[in-house]
Amino acid sequence: MTIILLGYMASGKSLVSKLLGKQLGLPVLDLDDFIERKEEKTIREIFETKGEIYFRMKEHQYLKEVLETKQAMIVSLGGGTPCYANNMNLIHEYTTHTFYLQTSIPEIINRVKDEKAKRPLISAIADEDLPEFIGKHLFERNAFYQQATHTVFTDKKQIEELVLEIETVLN
Ligand code: S3P
Repeated sequence: MTIILLGYMASGKSLVSKLLGKQLGLPVLDLDDFIERKEEKTIREIFETKGEIYFRMKEHQYLKEVLETKQAMIVSLGGGTPCYANNMNLIHEYTTHTFYLQTSIPEIINRVKDEKAKRPLISAIADEDLPEFIGKHLFERNAFYQQATHTVFTDKKQIEELVLEIETVLN
């Protein structure tokens, strides 16, 4: 069984996938980490030296490579993965277990404020402009995120609680 976790930056995809993997005894693959290993560059370096379109092409290519293994695993996507290159359609060809970790705008702002540097899409946005930027970004992206088969709300929840909710859906 392939389980996909998706959602905006800082929605908890990586943390949830690690605990879920432990609980279910499944390997976990973080798509951003996979891309960094394959490209031998950090995501930030890829954006800086090759640009976003190159990143989106590679993201699609490696997602396909991962799905084609048909290995039982949990895949944690990057925040933009569902929104490019028809990736949601590709994902639906391989699995029906897709979870959108939905997080409110104020909660996202809280979580990303102190770690903007590692997120190339928001690193140059001033703190006071974050609400407008994230609001618009989420408006555009929600149409893709909502193609997930399940939605889990993450605000004010511990990782353990989120994992339990996902396990309940899977059982
Ligand atoms: C991106 C989110 C990042 C990473 C890249 C682009 C996005 O992943 O893939 O910086 O477009 O939202 P996280 O959601 O893990 O931060």
